[in-house]
Amino acid sequence: MANQSKSKKDRKTSAWYYKHVNDAHVKQAKREGKRSRAVFKLTEVLDKHGLNIKKGSVVVDLGCAPGSWSEELVRYVGKDGLIIGIDLLPLNPIEGVTLIQADFDTTEGQEALQKALAGRSVDVVVSDMAPEMSGNKLVDQMRMIGLNEMTLHFASLHLRQGGHVLMKTFMGTGYEVFRQQLGQQFQKIKNIKPAASRKTSAEFFLLGQGFRGESK
Ligand SMILES: C[S@@+](CC[C@H](N)C(=O)[O-])C[C@H]1O[C@@H](n2cnc3c(N)ncnc32)[C@H](O)[C@@H]1O
Repeated sequence: MANQSKSKKDRKTSAWYYKHVNDAHVKQAKREGKRSRAVFKLTEVLDKHGLNIKKGSVVVDLGCAPGSWSEELVRYVGKDGLIIGIDLLPLNPIEGVTLIQADFDTTEGQEALQKALAGRSVDVVVSDMAPEMSGNKLVDQMRMIGLNEMTLHFASLHLRQGGHVLMKTFMGTGYEVFRQQLGQQFQKIKNIKPAASRKTSAEFFLLGQGFRGESK
């Protein structure tokens, strides 16, 4: 009865919340003191798919809030490495990570990243960015591909030869053409749907290994 008085949106929100709190990865993240369940998507790629991050690596984390990927990356690169994270949202400081609050898809965001890199080329670019969902599938898809194109452009400017890129994307319009573009710049491309990525979500990850170009 009580449910009948709730709006459709409220019912959807409480169904999402119920699923969220009962999600095994949410529980694991809580137990292990991680900032987000998203960390398990990255660790699967690191452990099983050959995303190679070594001590001393330079890694750029696009769409880094609330910070679970950056926290993990710091452990891999150690004190001689450099992690730079950018997000639209503010986040609590992470030791060893240079955090930038800006829109990656703006001149301001690009300049802030360039300044933080201070001329160093990048070993790995990771992106967990997704656009804010409008509810219109085609609009959201085009925005996602737009972020993917920006990520590839950034990677092609800053990656060292042999470097890697990992980015979230959605299957749909524009995806095939984008994957071909990625394939021209990297020796090997993998599609990855990590176990921690909800089956109901359209997201998956593209891993590009072995950047062919040279950092500018
Ligand atoms: C799924 S969350 C990332 C979670 C993160 N990997 C973690 O482990 O904590 C996606 C993030 O992308 C950010 N984002 C989306 N578009 C962006 C943009 N244009 N510039 C910077 N950040 C963006 C959002 O603000 C959001 O915090």
